[in-house]
Amino acid sequence: MASTTLSLASGASAISNSKPKIRFSGSSNVGHLLRKERNSPLFTTLSTGRKTMAVAVNVSRFESIPMAPPDPILGVSEAFKADTNSAKLNLGVGAYRTEELQPYVLNVVKKAETLMLERGENKEYLPIEGLAAFNKVTAELLFGADNPVVQQGKVATIQGLSGTGSLRLAGAFIERYFPGAKVLLSSPSWGNHKNIFNDSRVPWSEYRYYDPKTVGLDFDGMISDIKDAPEGSFILLHGCAHNPTGIDPTPEQWEKIADVIQEKNHIPFFDVAYQGFASGSLDADASSVRLFTARGMELFVAQSYSKNLGLYAERIGALNVVSSSADAAARVKSQLKRLARPMYSNPPIHGARIVANVVGDPVLFNEWKEEMELMAGRIKNVRQKLFDSLSAKDKSGKDWSFILRQIGMFSFTGLNKAQSDNMTDKWHVYMTKDGRISLAGLSLAKCEYLADAIIDSFHNVS
Ligand SMILES: Cc1ncc(COP(=O)(O)O)c(C=O)c1O
Repeated sequence: MASTTLSLASGASAISNSKPKIRFSGSSNVGHLLRKERNSPLFTTLSTGRKTMAVAVNVSRFESIPMAPPDPILGVSEAFKADTNSAKLNLGVGAYRTEELQPYVLNVVKKAETLMLERGENKEYLPIEGLAAFNKVTAELLFGADNPVVQQGKVATIQGLSGTGSLRLAGAFIERYFPGAKVLLSSPSWGNHKNIFNDSRVPWSEYRYYDPKTVGLDFDGMISDIKDAPEGSFILLHGCAHNPTGIDPTPEQWEKIADVIQEKNHIPFFDVAYQGFASGSLDADASSVRLFTARGMELFVAQSYSKNLGLYAERIGALNVVSSSADAAARVKSQLKRLARPMYSNPPIHGARIVANVVGDPVLFNEWKEEMELMAGRIKNVRQKLFDSLSAKDKSGKDWSFILRQIGMFSFTGLNKAQSDNMTDKWHVYMTKDGRISLAGLSLAKCEYLADAIIDSFHNVS
């Protein structure tokens, strides 16, 4: 039914002998549309003797809008919810679960929230760039507090709507200030990267990353594609725990990647969604970004606290742009604020305060590191148990050790779409169709069941 409201002009009753005057609330376009609809077969006329009134039925302004496909990652959770089988497993979305497969709120987060209540903090608007205390600690956590780029004010940091919002803001900045410049994404990459740059109207292409033959990194392909990209391209790199493959370059490979990016005058653009979650160490997981920064390169880094602080729904992250001078950083920041203002005005405060309280307080910071090691440790344990179960159960001689070489939340199983479909249809294991499973959603108790499902899908489905 059309959402347009029809109201009778004052003084006119619904049934009157005089012709009712119909006033269209809203713009004159609405009146125009309705006049068109009156000639449509969907528009009927009610007649009561001489009293006539037009009523629109079953007409929607949105008739021509097609149904969007479900999101390939978040759609998996919707399908999981609808499944009533008790053996079901949700390995789709990258969200940490306890050994009992329950969502987990970190103790340090609860403590930080208690502090906020005790202090009676208000809910006034934040400035466009976000909470100053958050922006300070987030840049320090990423680059290191003693990093010269931080000390010399060369980093423009702006609080973002988690990792996604920070990437999107960077997309808007690239579109405005580097028109025509390309972003190069790894093949494969986190599915939303393409959406983000499509919607930002930033052209993108892909560089080789995953080698299905070795279930490892196609390093030569990666280097050659980065070399071939037009000079001054943005090279999107996963700072650690590459999603979806779980395959990261070695420190020596990072050096070579930095070499070719510098040679081609490209701009590195790091996506850091798993700092601390990959290895259990915040510093080790930031080493790729710090290696590039130490070379004096200008670069972008989008940060997220969804995984490492379990703040998925708080939408807290940041965009950091490292410039070669403090003056350039100040100008970049002013333009990022200008882009943010008409998009969402200013960011939410709750998650920013949690991060500022945890990272800015030495006691809570140490407790966070311990909890993060526990989370990363649980994932490493299920990774090992899954490998052990696959190796013990699969009598074909297939080498499953690639699973142990992967890092972070995910494992890229090498299962194709038909095999991934079998995992869901036959075994009730929900995962993305590219063969990625989130080990953060797996318990030790379910490893054997999952191994059976993988072995069946791998050997019995082509
Ligand atoms: C590589 C990568 N980047 C960014 C994100 C963004 O997550 P969020 O917007 O929740 O911070 C994710 C989440 O899965 C991711 O895997």
